[in-house]
Amino acid sequence: MVNYKDLGLVNSREIFKKAVNGGYAIPAYNFNNMEQLQAIIIACTETRSPVILQVSKGARQYANETLLRYMAMGAVEMSKESGADIPIVLHLDHGDTFEICKECIENGFSSVMIDGSHLSYEENIELTKRVVEYAHKYDVTVEGELGVLAGIEDDVSSEVSHYTKPEEVEDFVKHTNVDSLAISIGTSHGAYKFKPEDGVPELRFDILEEIEKRIPGFPIVLHGASSVIPEYVDIINKYGGDLKDALGVPEDQLRRAAASAVCKINIDSDGRLAMTAKIRESLYNDPSNFDPRKYLGPARQELIEMTRHKNDNVLGSSGKA
Ligand code: G3H
Ligand code: 13P
Ligand code: ZN
Repeated sequence: MVNYKDLGLVNSREIFKKAVNGGYAIPAYNFNNMEQLQAIIIACTETRSPVILQVSKGARQYANETLLRYMAMGAVEMSKESGADIPIVLHLDHGDTFEICKECIENGFSSVMIDGSHLSYEENIELTKRVVEYAHKYDVTVEGELGVLAGIEDDVSSEVSHYTKPEEVEDFVKHTNVDSLAISIGTSHGAYKFKPEDGVPELRFDILEEIEKRIPGFPIVLHGASSVIPEYVDIINKYGGDLKDALGVPEDQLRRAAASAVCKINIDSDGRLAMTAKIRESLYNDPSNFDPRKYLGPARQELIEMTRHKNDNVLGSSGKA
């Protein structure tokens, strides 16, 4: 058993409380490799932002769970050496079974998500409750989900989204004792969240407000919150890529969400786009290069800048560490 506290990590309880009261959101950035982790830590220490390092089931398999643990420890050390010493959470994204949550808790994660959104309401309660009971023994925080987001992530996927039903949230939180709740208000995973012909995307803030009324001050999580930054889509398409009609959540709507009880905003696709844009551009402009540092370096630098921008201008988490 590796306890996250021995790795210098924190759970999400305190940082969520401060974020809800302060009207900002904590960034949850997904990572799979060293360059992504370096970029996230450099940007978050520079902006003095608390951060959630988010690992999906696929990322865990890709990177190796032991290596991931040491990478998280490395991130904590980097943060201390920078002098910023920001709160760092290591979080399992979209855990779909009790077993994977347990394994992560035993391997140094300080927070887990149990995504029972694909189950019936009763089964979701039962599974979430079981994970919470186990996690809380180790002071690990748990994120549950009500409502279904469209899009594919590992084994938890859906063609269509179902908005969260506000009338269920109070009962769900009471019966499961979860620490935070992911909701569905119109976002989805990946680079194709909305159709261009449908006009300016609008999240369902009416549902969010109804949820907030029923569980005042309770930490709410927004998945599928990438903006699908158009500049990156353009660069990718210019240098041989093919991302047609990619569209994300407008930044002003994310700012509005961050000012509410939404205290965690999940960003994966924008980081992928930033890196891919710069890798494509760099390989195109320097076809004789075969040193990965020469295309991963600019990709990492772009990810640093993107992360700074999100913390400063979208989530409002800069200076909150
Ligand atoms: O919400 C899902 C994340 O974007 C993770 O994606 O399962 O491809 O690692 P992944
Ligand atoms: P995006 O695909 O919008 O980045 O969402 C990521 C996410 O929700 C991870 O859980
Ligand atoms: Zn997600």
